[in-house]
Amino acid sequence: MTAIRSFCMAAIISAAGLAFVAPPALPQGQPVTPPHAAHPKATPESIAAGKDIFAGTCAVCHGIDGSGGNGPNIRGAGAAMGPEGVYGRIRGGIIGTGMPAFTSLDDATVWKLVDYAMTLGHEDAGVATGDSKKGKEIYDASKCGTCHAVGAEGGNLGPDLSHIGVQRSIVTLTKTLEDPGNNLPLDAGLQERATFTAYVVYRAVTKDGKVIEGTRVNEDSFTIQLRDANGNLHSIQKFEMKSIDPEPGKSFMPSYKDKLTAAQINDLVAYLSSLGEAQ
Ligand code: HEC
Ligand code: HEC
Repeated sequence: MTAIRSFCMAAIISAAGLAFVAPPALPQGQPVTPPHAAHPKATPESIAAGKDIFAGTCAVCHGIDGSGGNGPNIRGAGAAMGPEGVYGRIRGGIIGTGMPAFTSLDDATVWKLVDYAMTLGHEDAGVATGDSKKGKEIYDASKCGTCHAVGAEGGNLGPDLSHIGVQRSIVTLTKTLEDPGNNLPLDAGLQERATFTAYVVYRAVTKDGKVIEGTRVNEDSFTIQLRDANGNLHSIQKFEMKSIDPEPGKSFMPSYKDKLTAAQINDLVAYLSSLGEAQ
C-alpha cells in the first residue's frame, strides 16, 4: 500500500500552481523491526488480552474488528503476512504512511496483539457478493472517473481509488456510496484521514451576498481559494467575505443510494474491492 492520497493531493496542488505546504516526502519502505523474542504459542488468553489492547490502541484507526474506518481494513492481513509480518508492522510501523511504530510496547504485548490480529479474517467485514465485471461497467457508466483515478486514468477531485480494495472493507465501501461525506473529519487529528480534510466542503458568503461552495485549496493573509464541484478555482478577498463555514456531512461526491439499485451497488463494491489486490 502507498500513501497514494498524499501524492494525489500534491498533484492537485501543483497542478493548480499554488504555493501550499505539501506533505513531507518520506521514504516508502518495509518496516524496520528491532530484534525480538520468538513467538510464544497463541492461547485463548493471549488472544483475549490482545483484543483488549487492540481496542485501546489500534481500533481508533482500524475499527474494533479490524474492518477499517479511519485506517485500512486489516482483516486477512495476518493470513497474508504471517505473525512475523504483523509483528514487524506493529513494532516498525510503515514508513511514509499513517501507521505508527509502536516502539514503547514490549515484546509480550506485541505478540498478544499479533495473536488477536491473526484471528481477524475477511468474512464478517462483508464479502463481495456482486459481479466485479458488471461493477466496472457501472463505474464507467456513472462517470466515477471524472473525479477519481484508478491507475493513471481519471480525475483528482476525489481520492485515488487504485488501492481502495485493500484499504476499505466491503461494509465501508457500501456506506460511502450511499452516504458520502458522512465520515469526513473536520480536524486533521488522524494522520490517515488528514488529507481528507481537503475534501470538506466550505460555504463562503461574500458581503454582496454571493455564495461560493468549494474545498479549501489555499489561504494567505488576504485571500482564500476554494475549488468548486467542477474543479474551478475561486479566489476570494478576505475583506469582501462575510462568512465561511464548513458543511459537515457534505461532499462533492453524489450519493448513489437512489441512482443505483442495491444490486448495482453490490456489483460496484465488488469491482472496488478488487482494486489494489496482490500487487
Ligand atoms: C493512527 C492510525 C493507526 C493506528 C493507531 C494503527 N494503525 Fe495500523 N495502519 C494504519 C495505516 C494508515 C496503515 C496502512 C499503511 C499503508 O498505507 O501501507 C496501517 C497498516 C497496518 C497493517 C498492515 C496492513 C497490510 O495489509 O499491509 C497492520 C497489520 C496494522 N496496521 C496493524 C495495526 C495494529 C495491530 C495497531 C495497534 C497496535 C495499529 N495498526 C494501529 C494506521 C494506524
Ligand atoms: C463529483 C466528484 C465525484 C464523483 C462523480 C464521484 N466521487 Fe467518489 N468521492 C469524491 C470525493 C470528493 C470524495 C472524498 C470525500 C468523501 O469521502 O465524501 C469521494 C470519496 C469516495 C470514496 C471513499 C474513498 C476512501 O478512501 O474512503 C469512494 C470509494 C468513492 N468516492 C467511489 C466513487 C464511485 C464508485 C463513484 C461513481 C459511482 C464516485 N465515487 C463518484 C468525489 C466524487
